[in-house]
Amino acid sequence: MSLTPIGEPRRKTTISTIQEKKARHEPITCLTAYDYASARLVDEAGIDIVLVGDSLAQVMLGYENTLPVTMDEMLHHTRAVRRAVVHALLIADMPFGSYQVDEHEALRNATRMAKEGGAEAVKIEGGEKRADLIQRIVDAEIPVAGHIGLTPQSVNAMGGYKVQGKTLGAIEQLMRDAVALDRAGVCCLYLEGIPREVAAMITAEVRTPTIGIGAGPECDGQVLVFHDLLNLTFNPPAKFVRRYGDAAALISQAVQAYKADVISGNYPSDGESYHLSKETHAALDSLLERKRAMRR
Ligand code: KIV
Repeated sequence: MSLTPIGEPRRKTTISTIQEKKARHEPITCLTAYDYASARLVDEAGIDIVLVGDSLAQVMLGYENTLPVTMDEMLHHTRAVRRAVVHALLIADMPFGSYQVDEHEALRNATRMAKEGGAEAVKIEGGEKRADLIQRIVDAEIPVAGHIGLTPQSVNAMGGYKVQGKTLGAIEQLMRDAVALDRAGVCCLYLEGIPREVAAMITAEVRTPTIGIGAGPECDGQVLVFHDLLNLTFNPPAKFVRRYGDAAALISQAVQAYKADVISGNYPSDGESYHLSKETHAALDSLLERKRAMRR
């Protein structure tokens, strides 16, 4: 339910907006976007947060996992999204390797994401062990979103994409991670691939809004990958993915129809062609006639 009165212009979503939504138990909506067109559609639909996720490595660039995507590639996509997004809060992922090496490099890269990419917050994967670094970045006036649970940048360390927090020990660690990041001042906390019950406990415990993906309905908000939502991933979907449209079928049909029209001569029609003015046409005809006469 939106609390914006009908007819009132939509206001810019800020970090305070999502914190207020948590306080009012109003669900927060988030979707990824990686380019100008998709970001415009997502923003115009009234989604609260647009996330330039490093999942773009897979869905936009065709990599096997998120590890290869670089800072420059993330910036390239974030700038395109920035040009489109007017109202939503814009968060961008810090890619693998951009914050793990040392604190100075992490600060420099987070600053680039804010300054060159126009991100209003950066997202960093990892729990307790990242708390000090996150606090330093927050102290540098760059808001940080946390991300715990199934953290795709740790795919090799985790031994694959596995639901996290399934044992008592793992649940305790996740709670410690969430509390440490909350104290470090994260502006929101992404919970990925964890049991619903654990996400509910974390959501009740922390002040910061939680945004879930494969973490059940008790989170303060939900996020999906744009390409999952629209069946554009060419892979069987994960359990938590709900398809809201079939863009793959729509695009395939359009491309097939275009191909058939070009081959049959049905495209372009006269109405889809540019024309000379009557005067220029007449002048061209007489010029061609004179040339033909000279050749005779
Ligand atoms: O990269 C991404 O798309 C993400 C979301 C799935 C949370 O980190």
